[in-house]
Amino acid sequence: MPMIVYNFLESYDFSEKTVIPFCTHGGSGLSGTESTIKDITGAEMMDGFDIAGATAQNQRDKANEAVSEWLREGGFIE
Ligand SMILES: Cc1cc2nc3c(=O)[nH]c(=O)nc-3n(C[C@H](O)[C@H](O)[C@H](O)COP(=O)(O)O)c2cc1C
Repeated sequence: MPMIVYNFLESYDFSEKTVIPFCTHGGSGLSGTESTIKDITGAEMMDGFDIAGATAQNQRDKANEAVSEWLREGGFIE
């Protein structure tokens, strides 16, 4: 995660909050950041989502389907 995100996570109270991480990436995915965020914040975590930046930029239909599937699995859309 960028340092600014660490600063953000360390500066706010995440008790009684749920964190749902998502990112674009160049090949590394979430790289275990879910457990890092959990360790820093103590927040409840939900399954995160990652997608290659190149897919998000150049394969919009594929990206749309992947995001929709993630939101469906999380119960946010039908
Ligand atoms: C300084 C810097 C280093 C990065 N290092 C990595 C990396 O090691 N692995 C990775 O998957 N993404 C890395 N990224 C992120 C991807 O390059 C980028 O998020 C991805 O291509 C999506 O493009 P976007 O920034 O336009 O969303 C890095 C980004 C920056 C700015």
